[in-house]
Amino acid sequence: MKWSKARRLLCLAELASACLLPEEREGGHVARSGNLHTRDNGKAIGTGDRFNGGKLFPRGLGSGNETDLSTILNVNEVNSALQGLAAEYGFETFTTPYQTYEGATISGGKVGGQGTGNDAYHIYLNGAIHARERGSSDNIIYFISDLLYANKHNTGLSYGSKTYTNADVVQALNAGIVFVPLSNPDGVAYDQSTNSCWRKNRNPAAATSDSTIAIDLNRNFDFVWDLSKWASSVRSSVASSSPGSEVYHGASAFSEPETKSIKWVMDTFSKIRWFIDLHSYAGDILYSWGSDTDQTANPYMNFLNSTYDRVRGRTSDSTTTGYGEYIPQADLNNIRNVGTQVGKAMDASTGRSYTVMQSAYLYPTSGASDDYAFSRHYTDSKLNLIYGYTIEFGFGNNAASCPFYPSDSQYLLNLQETNAGFMEFLLAASRVGLSD
Ligand SMILES: *[C@@H]1O[C@H](CO)[C@@H](O)[C@H](O)[C@H]1NC(C)=O
Ligand SMILES: *[C@@H]1O[C@H](CO)[C@@H](O)[C@H](O)[C@H]1NC(C)=O
Ligand SMILES: [Zn+2]
Repeated sequence: MKWSKARRLLCLAELASACLLPEEREGGHVARSGNLHTRDNGKAIGTGDRFNGGKLFPRGLGSGNETDLSTILNVNEVNSALQGLAAEYGFETFTTPYQTYEGATISGGKVGGQGTGNDAYHIYLNGAIHARERGSSDNIIYFISDLLYANKHNTGLSYGSKTYTNADVVQALNAGIVFVPLSNPDGVAYDQSTNSCWRKNRNPAAATSDSTIAIDLNRNFDFVWDLSKWASSVRSSVASSSPGSEVYHGASAFSEPETKSIKWVMDTFSKIRWFIDLHSYAGDILYSWGSDTDQTANPYMNFLNSTYDRVRGRTSDSTTTGYGEYIPQADLNNIRNVGTQVGKAMDASTGRSYTVMQSAYLYPTSGASDDYAFSRHYTDSKLNLIYGYTIEFGFGNNAASCPFYPSDSQYLLNLQETNAGFMEFLLAASRVGLSD
């Protein structure tokens, strides 16, 4: 694949604003400069429970701005919002079988769908796997709130300049949605209480000091998790085996209850076809693969083939040297088409500009959720094909102590953009297909 100079410059600019800060890349150990702590912490975290233990339910921005949006949802509120929604609209919630290090459970809901049982759900929205990416859970909770409100009251939805009819709402819900708004509850609770720009979970298993606590959950999935399978030139950046690193990948693939929980959702709702893992803040819609340049010509050149161990991984030059990750042309078309439509809807909602691209072009990664999702049907042909995306909402807050903490106005823009994007995702995915 040709990689134009313009594209290259754009990507270099984006590197600075992805899930990792510049000083955290290359397997970095972080020494954040002291003066950052004198800055503000962006939009405040809610202190009470605006849903009163599930007796009240949220309303999103797209269905009429009823809920107080002046603060970010705290961890407890994400759960009470879920309970409130389930009570108001009568859907089932679930809790995964794995408890976190701090003893928290991981919960979600399932809405819409045609037919009965777990096979009716074809979409999976996952939030807040990276603790500091504030607003991630809110974006999912308020979107589901809008969809259910509009469905019940026969209205449409509007996100800035992007509007959807009630027929769109019905169509979107028919896809069947499983959602997990808070997949890293320990990390988020810690980040919210310390404003420490915390990315990982809170498992201290491999730690030798406070600064070496925890695992980067988005490097812990079973997708080329073993670093020896990567080219030496990218090995230190795709993930790290060093506990102090911001991209420490854990003792083994799926060592963590949070990643086990996400796998459990994919196993339990075995007809999921489309998956979004919601992150901030590169302003990107990223599609498979995240390992190396996509290629459609050679099926044997793929992540499972040990012939390519130690050459795999998109290197920093513009060409693919010796390796490209196989993706069938039809799948590439599908995943790119839907991603492009999502990006357009996000742009249209607020006028900000998102980039749609292959995730390896942000930077190659080992053990990421979106690649794991898309790789499952290759490792076990009984598993459903899942198109996986990483959406990086927002563009960062340089005025805050941590650029992942949105300002008040950014939080609302992010909400509009992600919610328009989710809506478009459901509609575009339904057009392309929800099953074989
Ligand atoms: C929601 O409504 C309140 C009261 O009308 C208003 O002050 C606030 O700006 C609105 N927020 C948004 C995000 O529209
Ligand atoms: C791995 O790739 C080599 C070179 O393309 C090919 O000859 C071999 O059959 C492949 N092995 C598998 C298991 O696909
Ligand atoms: Zn992230």
